[in-house]
Amino acid sequence: MGDYFSIRWIDGRVRMLDQRLLPEKEVYRDFVKCSEVAEAIRQMIIRGAPAIGVATGFGLALTAWYSHATDIDKFIKELRDDAEQLRMSRPTAANLFAAIQRIESIVDMAGDLSLEELKSAIIAEAHKIAAEDVQMSLKMAENGAQFIPDDANLIHHCNTGALATGGIGTALGVIRLAYQNGKKIHVYVDETRPRLQGARLTSWELKQLGIPHTVIVDGASGFFMKKKHIDACLVGCDRIAANGDVANKIGTYNLALAAWAHGVPFYSVGPTTTIDLKIATGADIPIEERSASEITQIGKTHITPDGVEVANPAFDVTPARYITAIITDKGVATPPYEQSIKKLMIG
Ligand code: MRU
Repeated sequence: MGDYFSIRWIDGRVRMLDQRLLPEKEVYRDFVKCSEVAEAIRQMIIRGAPAIGVATGFGLALTAWYSHATDIDKFIKELRDDAEQLRMSRPTAANLFAAIQRIESIVDMAGDLSLEELKSAIIAEAHKIAAEDVQMSLKMAENGAQFIPDDANLIHHCNTGALATGGIGTALGVIRLAYQNGKKIHVYVDETRPRLQGARLTSWELKQLGIPHTVIVDGASGFFMKKKHIDACLVGCDRIAANGDVANKIGTYNLALAAWAHGVPFYSVGPTTTIDLKIATGADIPIEERSASEITQIGKTHITPDGVEVANPAFDVTPARYITAIITDKGVATPPYEQSIKKLMIG
């Protein structure tokens, strides 16, 4: 596989692969301020819920690394202001909020720590979040392998690979491990309008991994389920509600409906950092609305009449009843999800 990564901490700098430019150009950018990291998340230089969580931790680590505050209270204020900027960057990915909570709990438990000790503890926690994300990817891949038959035709939506996480990925991680374990696999890759994460990013990753794949337009999934034998759909998730409703890239719900209609198993794959037990159902998940230009333009070319009304929700919510299983690092949840998700999280 190509030697690329979504995000890395390099001695006081956060380095990210600029995913807006792929597959044409492989450009890494360095950031030294938390506000720059928040902007990189907003602009989707980095994207994918787990990778956003890792970036959030590293963003706050930058605050700690470069702060000139001379007393703890001033430093904590700086940290909380930066956390607020991160919160405003992209509202749907639970991992962003989970990472902020992890860092804030270090502050809450600071007790007698000196300013320098607190800064070090925050930087260490950010590295722990990143390291755990790598491990969670591996666990998800192991837990999901059982659902991929040999000689499988799969449909995948958006990008859920190494670009979307700190590790090997969520849904794409499952596919990758199954392939590496010798299973014959063909992936139908939804292009994923409007940002084309499937066409640009997933096909780029699958090409490097040598996994056979075909890019299709989002609207073609039903056609392929009817025409070919499709064994399963695998997608990632940005936030999982306590009842098993799942927010993921726009178009996931349509794919789940088509899978349901054709009797194709539909798996949602995500780390437990994506589960938000405070959210009872998908109706309460905040859905990001992005700029109209993502729809009205392809690159610099305008494709709609001037002034046309556009709606651009970046995510949708797939009701739990259409999801065959939720594959996580801690195990696999199956219906009824209220019980199985609680069991995974609380034990
Ligand atoms: O808008 P994006 O590209 O950040 O959306 C990404 C997705 O919807 C992924 O499926 C999700 O974050 C899980 S990927 C590991």
